[in-house]
Amino acid sequence: MSIRDEHSKADPKGFYGAEDQKQLVDRYDEAADVYDAAMSDDVGWTGHIELAKVVERHVEIRTRICDAGAGTGMLGELLSKIGYRDMSANDLSPGMLEVARRKRIYSHCQVMELGKPLGYASSVFGATTACGVFTPNHAPASSLDELLRITRKGGLILYTLRSDEEPADFAAKQQELVDAGKWELVEAGDPFPSIASEPHIRHRCWVWRVL
Ligand SMILES: C[S@@+](CC[C@H](N)C(=O)[O-])C[C@H]1O[C@@H](n2cnc3c(N)ncnc32)[C@H](O)[C@@H]1O
Repeated sequence: MSIRDEHSKADPKGFYGAEDQKQLVDRYDEAADVYDAAMSDDVGWTGHIELAKVVERHVEIRTRICDAGAGTGMLGELLSKIGYRDMSANDLSPGMLEVARRKRIYSHCQVMELGKPLGYASSVFGATTACGVFTPNHAPASSLDELLRITRKGGLILYTLRSDEEPADFAAKQQELVDAGKWELVEAGDPFPSIASEPHIRHRCWVWRVL
């Protein structure tokens, strides 16, 4: 698979190669209108498909879900087709979030930065998802503290994590939260090839229960 010229703004190399967070957001903003077509038709992104299957197995259909780093809502669209109705989205890129908003699958779409305090009350969601966001150059491991705060006790946090090149501090952060009695592991999926155009890139789906 290769990226067509008209979709070049959504080449994952551009996101992974961003020099700083401002450039990352600018690149996502510029890619937003062609992002879904590029990911589905050229890049062959499968993370949202794998995570949606995991959510369907673990999360009851009436659960209030926060889709963190929702982008254009590719995961949310799949969850909506499964029947999830009570979903809120956030993302750092206003352009990506505007595409998500137009799909009318989320009750709220708000620009927020994972790794900073999130604009939600505590314990308001029964499940929190993050798809394609925990990968080099994107949201930091410290984002997990706020995902825990906004998810109620007994609720689930489900995310993809790049596994061939695990972003810094995730293994340590996950263990720190286990040791602190904040969450317990429900499932660590096998690594899967997540980008057909970059076959060495792999992600895993993780599921944690908030204690
Ligand atoms: C690969 S896209 C995945 C989008 C979506 N979750 C999906 O399944 O298609 C990664 C998204 O993470 C967002 N992002 C990167 N760093 C972030 C941060 N610190 N806080 C919130 N969103 C972030 C980007 O703006 C982009 O929309």
